[in-house]
Amino acid sequence: MSLKICVFDAYGTLFDINSAARRCASEPGREKFSESWPSISSHWREKQLSYSWLLNILGEYTDFWQVTENALDYALELVGLISDKELKERLLNLYKELDTYTEVKPVLRKLIERKIKCAILSNGSKMMLNSAVINSGIEPYVNAVLSVDEVCIFKPDRKVYQMVLDRLPFRIDEVLFISSNGWDIVGASSFGFKTLWINRLNLPVDRLPFEPDSIGDDLSVIETFIN
Ligand code: LAC
Repeated sequence: MSLKICVFDAYGTLFDINSAARRCASEPGREKFSESWPSISSHWREKQLSYSWLLNILGEYTDFWQVTENALDYALELVGLISDKELKERLLNLYKELDTYTEVKPVLRKLIERKIKCAILSNGSKMMLNSAVINSGIEPYVNAVLSVDEVCIFKPDRKVYQMVLDRLPFRIDEVLFISSNGWDIVGASSFGFKTLWINRLNLPVDRLPFEPDSIGDDLSVIETFIN
């Protein structure tokens, strides 16, 4: 493999999807929310992803920002907080400026130093991705941001991974696809990319027809590909 570009999933891989709820829970006056913020955040993410898969199966497309809001509505209603509009708005605004995981910037900086390009391929809408990239400070390290808004279908549909080859000047053997989401790795592996699964939660490998080529605990494992 002649690695020329690392293509990253965004949410859960570069951006800490729990940082919106965690930061909100630490604010004054959030007592009821802070009692159950981890489960709210978990239901929020689970519904965000399952809605995207179901929309694909239904042949429908609603952009990921609307899907993210719909999933948050579900998670808040589950715990009786759906009427707290201020809380909902605050959580959505925090989702536009998620923290990166601690190792993200050092790893991106090292890749750029080694003349390896970095791109994002994400279900995220153009608005939410641009906001997260700018607010997190990783814009200087990211050469391209590819949103499924351009093809109106979510991962793991092949049309999403094809965007990398259609929009960037690289051959498939020059690409390393990196995601913390096992199902996304299955999709990318099925498409034909070399894949690195960032198994942040130390989960089992999914029992599906395609497996990751490599596995790491966090992004720092990428250094083994460039040394
Ligand atoms: C993304 C979600 C699926 O960034 O993590 O595409």
